[in-house]
Amino acid sequence: MEYSSLHSSQILDFGESAEGGNEAKSYREVMSSLPRVKNLSANDCYLYQGFWYDSLFLERLMSAQDHFIPLSTDIFITSCPKTGTTWLKALTFAICTRSRLSGSSASSLLTKMPHECVPLLEYDLAQNPLKRDCAVPLVSTHVPYSSLPKSIISSCCKMIYICRDAKDAFVSLWYFIADMQRSKNVEPVSLEEAFELFCSGISSYGPYWDHVLGYWRASLEFPEKILFLTYEEMKRDTAAHVKKLAEFMGCSFTAEEEEEGEVQKIVSMCSFEKLSNLEVNKNGMHSLDTSYAVKNSVFFRKGEIGDWENNLTPEMGARLDDIMEQKLKGSGLKLPR
Ligand code: A3P
Repeated sequence: MEYSSLHSSQILDFGESAEGGNEAKSYREVMSSLPRVKNLSANDCYLYQGFWYDSLFLERLMSAQDHFIPLSTDIFITSCPKTGTTWLKALTFAICTRSRLSGSSASSLLTKMPHECVPLLEYDLAQNPLKRDCAVPLVSTHVPYSSLPKSIISSCCKMIYICRDAKDAFVSLWYFIADMQRSKNVEPVSLEEAFELFCSGISSYGPYWDHVLGYWRASLEFPEKILFLTYEEMKRDTAAHVKKLAEFMGCSFTAEEEEEGEVQKIVSMCSFEKLSNLEVNKNGMHSLDTSYAVKNSVFFRKGEIGDWENNLTPEMGARLDDIMEQKLKGSGLKLPR
């Protein structure tokens, strides 16, 4: 289905139409009845369908659940925050648009942050499904599998999920939030406090383990539809993963492309070193609304495996490992450490 054939009532514009206004009000009413706690950034977050959400995204998720309709060609880039989403977006975008990459016109990745290249379901598209380049079949989301709009689950759309060692994901999240807080002149919550919250399951789109498990189980049930990846494996052999991604996305590299080094070009273009040193990623800003504006550079911190060791005590590390082990027990999934 093309967006041009969507009924106008399916294009939500919060606050601009009476219908949109009433709908936003009813979502807020639902939110007001949900369990609520302060999250790692000391903002309210809400427990909805078993997961914790910031208000900025929850209202729009509810709207997406009611209205979003994917294109049949859409591929969803799915992840919990801080697990390598930016990298995966860059790689999949570069793979899809590679004919443009090798052409003389500059690649969008040189001038646009990866998040600007791939729209976010529960923000950009919940407000307006037309807010995208329909020639690029990529949509990203942090929404857990069980809360995805039914239209996505029942579609034949493919999904690519990335996850990461929980300790590194937590450390990455804490730095991200601390940076965001400092830029608003707010004292960040301490690492220890944030760790307690994370271990009790409270983090954006968390509990982390339930997020991972949802996509893991779905990938076992629908292996042809859901590709389950880890940050660590992707780091260890990025070229093999670029080929795997292209194959899964239905745009495998030709023998000629491989001979011409296309795979390696994409690996280099999307490397941490390359992306983090681009002007747009060093000095640009990523803003969704007035409450959420961050420097692009915070999405490129270290890009390493195991940085948790420089930030958490061995006891903290062991505690989170134990939690993950218990939660993943019996699922067949063992996340790399
Ligand atoms: P660190 O904070 O451990 O450095 P997300 O994109 O889901 O927000 O995840 C952010 C994490 O991915 C950060 O981890 C960031 O440095 C890392 N990252 C960003 N771009 C990357 C790239 N091109 N290659 C590898 N890691 C990258």
